[in-house]
Amino acid sequence: MTTAREIDASKLPERLEALPGIELVRRATAGVPAYLVGGAVRDLLLAEERADIDVAVEGEVGPLAEALGGELVEHARFQTAAVSVDAHEIDIARTRAEVYEHPGALPSVSPAGITEDLARRDFTINAMAVPLSGEPQLIDPHGGVADLEAGVLRVLHRLSFVDDPTRALRAARYAARLDLGLDPDCERLLRSADLSTVSQDRVVGELARIAAESHPSRALALIDEWGLLEMGSAPRVAAALERLFAASPQWSEYARRETAILLATAPGDHPARLRRRAGKLARHDRPGSPAEVQVLAHDHVPEVLAMARAAGADWLDDYVGRLRHVELEITGYDLVEAGVPQGPAIGRGLNAALAAKLDGGAEDFEQELRIALDAAEADDVAD
Ligand code: CTP
Repeated sequence: MTTAREIDASKLPERLEALPGIELVRRATAGVPAYLVGGAVRDLLLAEERADIDVAVEGEVGPLAEALGGELVEHARFQTAAVSVDAHEIDIARTRAEVYEHPGALPSVSPAGITEDLARRDFTINAMAVPLSGEPQLIDPHGGVADLEAGVLRVLHRLSFVDDPTRALRAARYAARLDLGLDPDCERLLRSADLSTVSQDRVVGELARIAAESHPSRALALIDEWGLLEMGSAPRVAAALERLFAASPQWSEYARRETAILLATAPGDHPARLRRRAGKLARHDRPGSPAEVQVLAHDHVPEVLAMARAAGADWLDDYVGRLRHVELEITGYDLVEAGVPQGPAIGRGLNAALAAKLDGGAEDFEQELRIALDAAEADDVAD
């Protein structure tokens, strides 16, 4: 799907003025050629709110970062810095040219002007800049505004996905978020992007960014449709998770949506193991009692339960909303005091008391203690 929209670039100066934190950046960059760049410009044109300000500077990053004050993380190799100041996140990068030694490698960078810096970027809609001093005239050498208006994602050059195949995953993220279609050349190049040249960490990093979006399942479906990664049931599971978290405050409070969606999609043994656990729970017969729900659920991390719930295990709602909050009045110390030896019998006693309480069979301290002691003793005999 593609959304055509009207972009009013004349609104840029006033939107720039209204950007939270911009006056800090202006003060720090006074006298240096610095620009608002990339997604920050795109989002200003779209009048979208965003959390961070991306600045490119034709010169050293260090002094600018220092002038901004705040918390600083500097990456010397890439001549970038991230500064947190007064609740504003400011990313600074030296304007640069990039050379990719081989497909999928991280680039070698060398200082260059803003024009070259824009030319090394992924898509036209991300290759725009606005000077931070003087006239805030939009710099748009690759037709980013026109592509935003037409709802088109377009690369700047033929080797874009060879240099950096993760851009194909970024394409899915932007296409899904902004309802963009692929320009035909972009589509052809993208379909031959080879993600096997990229480390699994970088792929997972991109999937994590997708998981944090409003509609990750759309992007995941595109990744599958474009033949970039074998997604299997991931788009469907992600869509079910989106619905679950949108509909349920209690699940949103209990589990992290982004983590659950990432686990549902990520490559690697650990996510696959957690998916198997969720699948097993989802296929389990509906438990016959609250105590059984508790036993089935309590060993799993919240995101595994969210995946199982999204796959149909609605009996987990009771666990998340109620059962997991139930606490015993007795503790292990009460059992020790009553003569139960330290060891597994304590745990078994407490479990029995909790099961009874969940099922309505223990209403106060005395009843819990009696049930726990009986169970501890019985287990002792069985031992
Ligand atoms: N970029 C690129 N190729 C990449 C990653 C990033 O060319 N593989 C460029 C793009 O111009 C992008 C900018 O670096 O706009 C910043 O990247 P990033 O912070 O990842 O994206 P944003 O533009 O901030 O967009 P969003 O946060 O909305 O994803």
